[in-house]
Amino acid sequence: MAIRKIAQVGHPVLRQVARPVTREELATPSMQRFIDDLIETMHDADGAGLAAIQIYEPVQICAIEVRDNPRYPYKPPIPLTVLVNPVLTPLGDEQFDNYEGCLSVPNLRGVVKRHVHLHVHAWDRHGNVIDEDVAGLKAGTYQHEVDHLLGKVFLDRVTDPTTLTTWTEFERHHKAAFVARVTALVARVGS
Ligand code: NI
Repeated sequence: MAIRKIAQVGHPVLRQVARPVTREELATPSMQRFIDDLIETMHDADGAGLAAIQIYEPVQICAIEVRDNPRYPYKPPIPLTVLVNPVLTPLGDEQFDNYEGCLSVPNLRGVVKRHVHLHVHAWDRHGNVIDEDVAGLKAGTYQHEVDHLLGKVFLDRVTDPTTLTTWTEFERHHKAAFVARVTALVARVGS
């Protein structure tokens, strides 16, 4: 396993549209090693998610995991999940304001509208079908990662640029109100 370099905003790879992965390709040792590297790189960077395109491989694979993390103490845990060829379908019209950051956008956060309820269809790393509904902050994380596979970063979805903030100023000026809002969301929708 190896820790890979994470592409930073401005690098054209982040604007590519990732290609689907075939079942045959997914089963190869080299693709399985790549997924190990994706996970190891996400852990090393203390991220809640990482898309393959962020480590310069434009394939439709992303990893998501929320453990006890001092960066996101308000996020309920998400077990390690690898999504291959994910397709997200919003369920209903409800959206929430999520304060997002990204390992490819250093030291910046901003408010992005995300669907509260989603259906997810994907494969796991072994090609087993994932077919589930997700909600709340977890749904926000899924949308952020799948956006990467479509060549988008969260900055594209920040509709009010005055919400942009460094991590230090987020902690000082925005975190308390955001945590109060999302704590209520988590209590209502369960994640
Ligand atoms: Ni990101």
